[in-house]
Amino acid sequence: MRTIVSLPGDGIGKVVLPEAIRVLEAAGFKANYVHGDIGWEFWCKEGNALPDRTIKLLKEHKIGLFGAITSKPKDDAVNELSPELKDKGYVYFSPIVGLRQHFNLDICIRPCKAFKGNPLNFIRKDGKGGYEEPAVDAVVFRQNTEGMYGGIEWTNPPKVVRDALETHPKMKKFADVKSEDMAISTRIVSRQATERIFRAAFDYAKKFGYKNVTVCEKPNVLRETSGMYLKIARQIAKEYPGIDLWDTNIDAQMMWLTKNPEDYGVLVAENMFGDIISDGFAGLVGGLGFACSANIGDEVAVFEPTHGSAPKYENLNPSIVNPIAMILSACMMLDHIGENEKATKIRKAIADVVEEGKVKTYDMMKLRGGSKAIEQGAATTQKMTDAIIEKL
Ligand code: NAI
Ligand code: MG
Repeated sequence: MRTIVSLPGDGIGKVVLPEAIRVLEAAGFKANYVHGDIGWEFWCKEGNALPDRTIKLLKEHKIGLFGAITSKPKDDAVNELSPELKDKGYVYFSPIVGLRQHFNLDICIRPCKAFKGNPLNFIRKDGKGGYEEPAVDAVVFRQNTEGMYGGIEWTNPPKVVRDALETHPKMKKFADVKSEDMAISTRIVSRQATERIFRAAFDYAKKFGYKNVTVCEKPNVLRETSGMYLKIARQIAKEYPGIDLWDTNIDAQMMWLTKNPEDYGVLVAENMFGDIISDGFAGLVGGLGFACSANIGDEVAVFEPTHGSAPKYENLNPSIVNPIAMILSACMMLDHIGENEKATKIRKAIADVVEEGKVKTYDMMKLRGGSKAIEQGAATTQKMTDAIIEKL
């Protein structure tokens, strides 16, 4: 039997993860779940939100199902550290970023597929006095480890960095700016990682029958980094006849998002652009309650909803948050380990519940979150899960 590392984390991560496991079990997926410590509690108690024992578990079992974590600003992080750890040089790092870096989880997949009947779906005017609901089915492949979020940045850059940059003619316009008045964030991409993300995207398109892959970058301005993306995309596309390669600029793509989102299949972008475009598409299909994701490396893969720990709702009893994003993330895990049939079954059950429209969490009713939502007719988290299990 397969072992899955269960990483509930903080806040509503602790609420939605057990719901996903209930659905997995109801779908007939048998596994051992081992608990991995991660999140704010471990920062406070141990000065490390991602303890080594958790890394070890993932290294051994390869597959993680992750809820969400809480990150707080620098000052809070220092203040909430347990007294005996204070002033010992502990620095807070986000454990999910830590996981992505430690295991080189460089391929981030974010499917954004509209469920028919979801009241949160994007609609547009049809020009005949009515409305139409485009069938959005886009999957964003975001490079997860490099680019603009690679973390190579400085305020007041050291002299060697400054000197190196001065070799570029465009630095002339900063000649009068003192280093202490200068901040630099880099956007470094590598051929290896770029090839990997495109290969993964094309493989996915082939496996799931998508007809096009779109590089969503800005090569007219970011001539080097976006330029490399486009060039590699064209090379790799040749290996996949039958799948069209399109390219769009990130800014124009954000505009087309609401004009013709149904035209796009698989999209590929660097870290920051992928972050932006995936949130954009997620907004068309129900937002955070529906946004699932996978972080995939060579060895280890971690599946998680896009949302965070939603601290406002963590102590609500009964819970009101939508478990679907977490359950869909568990489906991505099933796809990854070759259990496609069970994943399809669960997605169908979710689709049935949404289309029937009898059971809706507060977000699907466009209600304000809070304990009143239940009186106003919203389903609890558990009730939504029950409805999905019933359809199974
Ligand atoms: P968030 O995603 O936790 O919540 C934003 C809002 O979205 C919530 O207040 C709620 O209205 C709604 N929401 C989120 N999940 C929902 C669900 N399943 N069903 C219905 N509504 C839902 O983002 P926020 O408030 O910016 O951050 C809260 C904490 O989460 C912070 O500490 C942040 O650092 C952390 N975070 C962690 C992430 C992760 O674990 N990967 C990702 C994003 C934020
Ligand atoms: Mg984001």
